[in-house]
Amino acid sequence: MALIRIPERQQTISGTAEVAKFLAGHGISHERWESAPRVPPDASADAVLAAYADKVDELKARGGYTTADVIQVTPDTPNLDTMLAKFNREHWHDEDEVRFIVEGRGLFHISPPDGPVFAIEVEAGDMISVPRGTHHWFDLCTERRIRAIRLFQDASGWTPRYTESGVDANFQPLCFGPSFVRAEDSRRAM
Ligand SMILES: [Fe+2]
Repeated sequence: MALIRIPERQQTISGTAEVAKFLAGHGISHERWESAPRVPPDASADAVLAAYADKVDELKARGGYTTADVIQVTPDTPNLDTMLAKFNREHWHDEDEVRFIVEGRGLFHISPPDGPVFAIEVEAGDMISVPRGTHHWFDLCTERRIRAIRLFQDASGWTPRYTESGVDANFQPLCFGPSFVRAEDSRRAM
């Protein structure tokens, strides 16, 4: 389930309805789908798209998206740091950034024009749509693992456009989901 943190206010927002309401106030759609993956971890991209065809078709109809693909990142992904470096600096796109998280976790930071930066931690079962033009950046959590369905109105519009503001350097890409809890537990056990 997605979790929101607003570092400047030291505020955390949890709960499906509360998260969706907060994000809607920033034009961001969030829905909670089922968290149990419909496919095994080694399923092909085509198998993932086939398994979620009903959801993908619904989103396409709703948002005018024409294509969908699957992105899969693991610690073994070649040139992972180079890939991640494209997205962990503040940028925007000329089309919506729509993701359904099939497995793993990640962290979006959003920098609204009229309010403090906030972080959205997403995990399996979360669907998020960040509108075109929204200033944001993205990091993986400590497991460095995510698989997500991406939808595009026009894939050519999805190039990152960097603000070069440097604001991203002020925020730690810290996730507070299961791995953080496990780390806390292990420290207590030591
Ligand atoms: Fe992006």
